[in-house]
Formats: sequence, structure tokens, C-alpha cells
Amino acid sequence: APLTPPDLTKCHKATDEFPTPHKVDCCPPDYGKAKMVDFTPPSPKDPLRIRKAAHKYNLDDIAKFEAAIAKMKALPTNHPWNYYQQATIHCTYCNGAFDQLNTKTLLQVHGNWFFLPWHRYYLYFWEKILGKLIGDDTFAIPFWNWDAPKGMYMPLMYLNEKSPLFDGTRDKRHYKSVLDYRYSMGAPNPTDPKPVVTNNLEMLSSMFKETLNLPALFMGKPLRAGENPTTSTTAPGSCETLHNVMHQWVGPTTSPYWNMGNFHTAARDTIFFAHHGNVDRMWDIYNNSRGQRHEFSDPDWLDSSFIFYDENEQLVNCKVRDCPTPQSLRYIYHPEPIPWTNNRR
Ligand code: C2O
Repeated sequence: APLTPPDLTKCHKATDEFPTPHKVDCCPPDYGKAKMVDFTPPSPKDPLRIRKAAHKYNLDDIAKFEAAIAKMKALPTNHPWNYYQQATIHCTYCNGAFDQLNTKTLLQVHGNWFFLPWHRYYLYFWEKILGKLIGDDTFAIPFWNWDAPKGMYMPLMYLNEKSPLFDGTRDKRHYKSVLDYRYSMGAPNPTDPKPVVTNNLEMLSSMFKETLNLPALFMGKPLRAGENPTTSTTAPGSCETLHNVMHQWVGPTTSPYWNMGNFHTAARDTIFFAHHGNVDRMWDIYNNSRGQRHEFSDPDWLDSSFIFYDENEQLVNCKVRDCPTPQSLRYIYHPEPIPWTNNRR
């Protein structure tokens, strides 16, 4: 059966695994009291949002994005749009603050086929809220173009210490070093970026080639209502597994790995949303290569739903079937060359 929204009155403590498992508070404010409605996808007449690569942002783009983030950070701490409340949503769904409805089984959107759709909605509402805060209904968030050689670095705008995009918890050794998809925690920086870039492109290329006809390998394996996300046969897709590397690479090398290296805190770092922008873009590229077909026709996937606060502070129930493509949510990725499509191993 499809996943249904949890009982909102039953939010409980979540678990942070590091340095040893302990309870943390990740419940959204007033969830128990809010009334939920079904999500209505935007109309084709609504303005289109165009997400651009972070490393290509010009000064005006940066100023606008910074202004929006600064406003979000300045909201009262218990406001559902507050920057840290928005970050906490990730903890809610990632660190087990809810049980699946009428069960004692935790709700988890990582490590299974919900990874991509859940994060698509998460970014979508974050973007809409930011746009609303600065009164711009075409506002779009940047993506970290880590699949292009020039994008395989932390985008510069996140490294300005005076910017609201800055986060002092990142691994400083990586401020100017090339991102290595084979990075393992604490490994030294590569001396020559060239072979690293080549290898990254090859890894992407084979990842797409190997999974093109096997969505469960790219997207993640099924998790159905009532199944335990840690003990069932579910598994993350290759897209998620690769994305974990960037989390570790940006975050610090010491436990508890706050912010980016720990799911409890990852979304406190603004670069999280640029990273996930590109993860979402990978799904879009994958989906386009397959002729925009649903990756799974199984209603257990399509009819599963998640809850979010929308840009009107309304709690909405969002079904996987309503976010098959960026276009269906009225945004697109600004076309960038895809340098790895011809990089066959
Ligand atoms: Cu919800 Cu990058 O993880």
C-alpha cells in the first residue's frame, strides 16, 4: 500500500546517530493543530522558475538570493517558514520524528524510492517561500552543477564569510579543492584535479548507462506502507549513494559531522539546497532520457504522499504522482552542457 501522511499529533523525538544515538527534537511547530489540504499543482499559466547553476550566478543573482535567505533567517523562530524550521523538516523525515500511520514503524524517505520525489517537493516549497519573502514569483534557487568540470568545486558565493549563504562548519580543506566522487572521509586533497574530473564524468556516465532501464537502481528500491525502512529489502538508488559523497565532502571530518555530514543538521547549510537542486536535476535528466515516463507505474509509489507547509502557511498533502517532472511544478533547469554523456568507460 502507498505511504500516507503520519498522524500529525504524534510527532515524537527523532534520533541523531552521532557520536552515539541520542534523541533530538525535530517536530514542526503546531503540526498537531494545523488543518491539511491536498496539494494542487501549479497551473501552466503560473510563471516559470528557471534554476541556474550556482557557479554562473552574477552579482545581481547573488544579491537576490542572499536577500531571500536573510529574510528567511530573520523570521520568528517558531514560524513555519523560518530558516531553521525549514531545515528541521529534513530532520523530521530523515531521523524518524514520525511513525507511519497506525504503526510503530518509522517514516523514512531516505534509502528507498521516495528519496527523489520527497526532496523535489522539499526544494519546491523552500523556493516558493523564498520567492514570497522577496515578492518575486519567478524567483528560482541555484543548483550546484557538480557534474560539470567548472562546477566540481564549492560554488564561490557560499564561501563569502559575510554572506548569509556562508556556513563555518564546512571542511575548510575543500574550499578550493576539486570534488572527488570517490572521496572517503578525511582523505587528502588530490594533487592533480584533471584525473579526478575525468573519473567523476566517467562515474556519472556509467551510472546512467547501467540504470537507464532499471529505475529501482537509480531511484531506490520500493518501500511500502508498513515496511520497516531499516530491515526491509529496500535500498538507496545510485543517485542517492553518490549524493551522500557530497554531504561528507562538504561537512567536517569529525563526529557529529554537523552540519552537512549529518542528516539531522544537513539542511541548516544553504549549500544543501544547491546540492539537492543538482540531485533533482539528475532525476530530470534521467527522466528525459527515458522519454518522461513514470519511473514506477506502481500505485504504491505514485499514490504515496508527504506533507509540507506551502507558501501560504497551509499544510498540504503532496502525492508522488503530482511531481513527475520539474515542468509539472512550473520550474526548469537552465540547460547546461552535459559533458559526461559521451564519457563511456
Ligand atoms: Cu535528505 Cu541530501 O538528504
